[in-house]
Amino acid sequence: MLRVGIVGCGNIFTMHATSVAHLDNATLVGVCDIKKDRADAAAAKYGVPAYYDYTQLITPEKIDVVHVCVPHYMHPVISRYALEHGVHVLCEKPMSIDYADGEANVKLAAEKGLQYGIIFQCRYNDTSRLIRENLDNGRLGKIISVRSTLTWYRPDDYYALSDWKGTWDKEGGGVIIDQAIHSLDLANWFIGSRPVEVQASIANRAHSIMKVEDTAEGFIRYANGATLSFWAMNNYGCDEPIEIRLLCENGKAVMSYDDACITFNDGTQLTVSQEPDGIHYDGGKDYWGFRHIRQIEAFYQAVEQGVEPAISGREALKIQKLICAIYESGKTGQPVKLGE
Ligand SMILES: NC(=O)c1ccc[n+]([C@@H]2O[C@H](COP(=O)([O-])OP(=O)(O)OC[C@H]3O[C@@H](n4cnc5c(N)ncnc54)[C@H](O)[C@@H]3O)[C@@H](O)[C@H]2O)c1
Repeated sequence: MLRVGIVGCGNIFTMHATSVAHLDNATLVGVCDIKKDRADAAAAKYGVPAYYDYTQLITPEKIDVVHVCVPHYMHPVISRYALEHGVHVLCEKPMSIDYADGEANVKLAAEKGLQYGIIFQCRYNDTSRLIRENLDNGRLGKIISVRSTLTWYRPDDYYALSDWKGTWDKEGGGVIIDQAIHSLDLANWFIGSRPVEVQASIANRAHSIMKVEDTAEGFIRYANGATLSFWAMNNYGCDEPIEIRLLCENGKAVMSYDDACITFNDGTQLTVSQEPDGIHYDGGKDYWGFRHIRQIEAFYQAVEQGVEPAISGREALKIQKLICAIYESGKTGQPVKLGE
């Protein structure tokens, strides 16, 4: 039985705590938040002790695994603390704001022989899996181009109510690092090659209260010849379904919200619709999807078996490198070349 602690009892906490409660091989033993009322409420709900300082919870005497569910700038700090103190880490996306901080923790985890995972739960959606399987088995053939669009609604209030969102120092950006990171990760994962050049633009077009970008578009070339065109904004009037389209040698694939459809060049089709898993996540939001539990379960299995999880820190560095290059290109107005 793995003993689990969760640091950060805000919005995303419910996805982690509910998942732990439904898994047989783990038990929640403590929760932590610097906001005492949040820690106390979470502790009362799950019948575990509350901590207000993460160093009091993260010790191998108390826990085997810590889930890091705090603002972005604290991700590498708390992850590093846990790894230094012999505790496995499952951290919410993004692994860090700066690439170097994520890379340092990947090295540290390897030195310590600990597992370090980063949450990208959308890779566990049935829709993503259908496409990944048909790339892996060769039926779709080589990817030529991928297109990803995200048009969501995040009003000024969304930023006004948070003490870290919408800031460069604490969130690390806006629509790219927070919302579009999932669809960009899926596109990057499908392409499965090394990005070699990133051209992007970023702008704040509609928000007065925050200074980070609410709009971004870009074009990415990959070593295998594939390209990724993306467009992301959170200044639209509602949350429209995220859409990812793949143009491949042998057909086209489209993912839109809970549905995916592959149409092969011979006209045959494969489709899947994401079914609810029957678990109630109190306060969970539809647009997060409900697949945290699959990734958390897979992470715990990796810990038990002493093997690197599928979405390890090392794997997450790939999307981290891309996100950082998008910001660099967006801020400088210049293309960014990426090496090995
Ligand atoms: N995977 C997803 O789909 C998804 C969805 C939503 C949020 N997230 C991620 O989850 C993380 C948290 O987001 P959120 O919306 O829950 O934020 P939030 O602001 O609602 O919650 C963060 C909590 O962390 C606490 N905190 C801050 N510093 C702390 C510290 N040093 N020690 C202990 N607690 C501390 C805050 O008091 C707050 O309660 C972010 O990385 C976000 O990107 C992921």
